[in-house]
Amino acid sequence: MEFPITRMRRMRKNPQIRNILRETRLTPENFIYPMFIKEDLSQGKIEPILTMPGQNRYSLEDAVDEAKRLEENGLKSILLFGMPVKKDDVGSSAYNADGIVQQAVEQIKDETNLVVMTDVCLCQYTTHGHCGIVENGEIINDETLEHLALTALSHAEAGADVVAPSDMMDGRVEAIREMLDLNGFDDTIIMSYAAKYASAFYAPFREAVCSAPSFGDRKTYQMDPANAVEALREAELDLTEGADILMVKPALAYLDIIKMIKEELKVPTAAYNVSGEYSMLKAGIDAGYLTEDAIYESLLSIRRAGADLIISHFAPEFLEMF
Ligand code: PBG
Ligand code: ZN
Repeated sequence: MEFPITRMRRMRKNPQIRNILRETRLTPENFIYPMFIKEDLSQGKIEPILTMPGQNRYSLEDAVDEAKRLEENGLKSILLFGMPVKKDDVGSSAYNADGIVQQAVEQIKDETNLVVMTDVCLCQYTTHGHCGIVENGEIINDETLEHLALTALSHAEAGADVVAPSDMMDGRVEAIREMLDLNGFDDTIIMSYAAKYASAFYAPFREAVCSAPSFGDRKTYQMDPANAVEALREAELDLTEGADILMVKPALAYLDIIKMIKEELKVPTAAYNVSGEYSMLKAGIDAGYLTEDAIYESLLSIRRAGADLIISHFAPEFLEMF
């Protein structure tokens, strides 16, 4: 059937009709809010992150308060990043039972009903800022696995519902699953950063948590932005190793990857709307070049591409928009 019998504009006639015919919706359940918790901050000293206007580093106490406030506004899940006082060669403070993330997990689980997720990586905890153990200027895969597994275990012991390894070492999902199961945490969910690209869009984040590598780059472990087929292999491998949720990161420049993984593998899929994607829009809005509707539109595109979950710094703003 063609024009004039078929008229597509009939279905866009007014807001009510557009509303009932809308294909994609964003709900609070779709969102995960990333939070930065800094060990040596005292209560009340909230540090604004200059490269990410509107985002902050929180002390333990303030993080718990903020989590409670966000839960009242409808937030369902939170992803915690720690900034420790002590760093060393192997990032051993990442698996300190009294570490900043471990304490935050415990308290937030205690005081809210949020789904608590943790970033599992070594880069914030190593002096060299790489996500793995370094030997002779190289990032050593297999030795790193034990450290990552211990980190994930310490988060699970603190009560984390979901652990999210972001290091991109080979075999880490298997190592983490094994360590968790051996210690009775067979219910702890693994959300793996399955396809994490070596992206320039992470720049504001590295500034935020001081985890820029002191030498070289992350291109020997994070993926080449040019590769899509490889992302599917990475995702399949993580599934085989026991990942429950697969993540693509970044989100906006990688919508094709999100769509492919969701369609091919049919498992819960998350996408990380990274710091650069946040700051870029914020800057445009602050300068008056864009309106806030651009936030909704870009989050919608991630969901439309197939992401079930969106990790986004916009989560608090989204909750207030609706
Ligand atoms: C490091 C890590 C990074 C992010 C999360 N975990 C950055 C990196 O790989 O350098 C980026 C988050 C963001 O940009 O929002 N494991
Ligand atoms: Zn890392």
